Amino acid sequence: MGTYNFDAIIDRHHTSCEKWDFMTKKFGRDDLLAMWVADMDFTAPPEVTEVLKNRVDHGIFGYTGKSDNYFRSIVEWVEKRHKWEIEAEWIRHSPGVVPALSMAVLAFTKPGDGIIVQPPVYPPFFSAASGRGRHIIENPLVERHGRFEMDFEDLEKKIDSSVKMIFLCSPHNPVGRVWTKEELTKLGEICLRHNLIVVSDEIHSDIIYKGFHHIPMASLSPEIASRTITCIAPSKTFNIAGLSTSAVIIPDPQIRDAYTSVLNFLHIDGGNLFGTFALEAAYRKGEPWLLALLEYLEGNVNFIEKYLTENLPDIKLVRPEGTYVPFLDCRGLGLSGEDLFNLMINKARVAMNNGAWFGTGGEGFMRMNIATPRALIKEGLDRISRAVACIEK
Ligand SMILES: Cc1ncc(COP(=O)(O)O)c(C=O)c1O
Repeated sequence: MGTYNFDAIIDRHHTSCEKWDFMTKKFGRDDLLAMWVADMDFTAPPEVTEVLKNRVDHGIFGYTGKSDNYFRSIVEWVEKRHKWEIEAEWIRHSPGVVPALSMAVLAFTKPGDGIIVQPPVYPPFFSAASGRGRHIIENPLVERHGRFEMDFEDLEKKIDSSVKMIFLCSPHNPVGRVWTKEELTKLGEICLRHNLIVVSDEIHSDIIYKGFHHIPMASLSPEIASRTITCIAPSKTFNIAGLSTSAVIIPDPQIRDAYTSVLNFLHIDGGNLFGTFALEAAYRKGEPWLLALLEYLEGNVNFIEKYLTENLPDIKLVRPEGTYVPFLDCRGLGLSGEDLFNLMINKARVAMNNGAWFGTGGEGFMRMNIATPRALIKEGLDRISRAVACIEK
């Protein structure tokens, strides 16, 4: 780790930061330890900050464009980290991954069409899939021995002629799965058989723990690539979500044109000046920082697992294979969803996402953001321990 200090506790209050400054909106109070919305309490790689500072010093912040080097940095990152060879021409812009999901919905479906989602899943999947007259078809994940899996039989049964698209979350937030080649291949076969467009949200694909490997859905075969829209971003990876810059990779020219026409209609292709600089700096120079981050996060995972086993045996970590927003399985506490949420927010005073917000299968879980200094993780767990001790009396 050496050069990077992930143990530093940095006060983020009064920085317009959603996680620490806007808790009242979400939780009704602001005296909480923030372990919710998925950004990190760590500073971005110094190489990124330096590039931004230099650009700020120039002092003129007009309309922006994207250079060949910008696109090359994405191509090279994807090839290096994920062994997927893409062409710069396949890349399109989006201000965020969620807007990319919504643009895909507008480009490839019409009112009345169905879109598959696999709950429990990141809540904006539901709003994107049910927007403007589309409807959600749920294909819930199934839990086997503390690990979530896809239910392919249920998926096949649910697909009828109205279903046009599936939102894949890969790796999956919040169950922390890094889908295997076998799982993705099986999913791909079903999607091809039914002519579905796969929108693969791979925003968490750089946060992968030891022993697991992210496989881009579209890298499986040219057939699957020709039906897949892949969304990536440096936002989660390098903690630059506020810079609103994502990339959408679309190998098929017709699908790409349809996406581009929505992007142009919304007139948002130009993007954010600082996001443009930050993406390129992060992908070109951020890898050593990322490797150190992954070590630190894995340390947090191990710390939480040990702490729970020793002090809170009724709460279990759904051990993540990827992502820094794992589920805590709190069903052992025997509380209703509402009582569990009340315990965590109003007694423990730890702001976490209620599992129920992630839809079917989420109740009884809380999602904890572990991308924070270990001392704060310990503080959060201590608070939860004290609150749980009170209910058990
Ligand atoms: C699976 C997933 N997709 C998308 C996002 C957000 O993407 P963006 O901020 O780029 O819209 C998140 C943030 O937590 C996420 O977990």
